[in-house]
Amino acid sequence: MKTKSLDDLFQDMLKDVYYAERKILKALPKMARGAQSPELRAAFEKHADETQIQIERLQQVFELIGKPARGKTCPAIEGIIEEGEEILESFGGTDAVDAGLVATAQAVEHYEIARYGTMCRWAEMLGQKQASKLLRETLAEEEATDKTLTEIAETSVNQAALKAA
Ligand SMILES: [Fe+2]
Repeated sequence: MKTKSLDDLFQDMLKDVYYAERKILKALPKMARGAQSPELRAAFEKHADETQIQIERLQQVFELIGKPARGKTCPAIEGIIEEGEEILESFGGTDAVDAGLVATAQAVEHYEIARYGTMCRWAEMLGQKQASKLLRETLAEEEATDKTLTEIAETSVNQAALKAA
């Protein structure tokens, strides 16, 4: 039987997330354009800038483990982003679109939080301290973004969607 280990799992997940981040970077401007609330639009724009840095961090991690930076199709993120596009199609221009966009963005963040949480730990176990540190920086950003989105939902966009009912 072929031997595979945590090291292979880690590399596989790194490729998955590298693909996902680049997909998210492309989707964020569309989400920003579709947002009605200036606050939400600004949050998406800020996260697009962060995502660019996160992609660079992943490239550093590939370098640290001596592998070329290569992505691997991530069906999970494709699905979440497709759902976001459906929200824009069905709810674009309505008072409900922002609540829908926040929900999509939080699904993206939660996916990333799960992935980065796992990868931080695995990198640590594999003795890749520097890689783990870089991944933890991104994890903290994703958590902060998730929190910001919750605040936007709670303080404005959910109410706006409800009032339109
Ligand atoms: Fe990210």
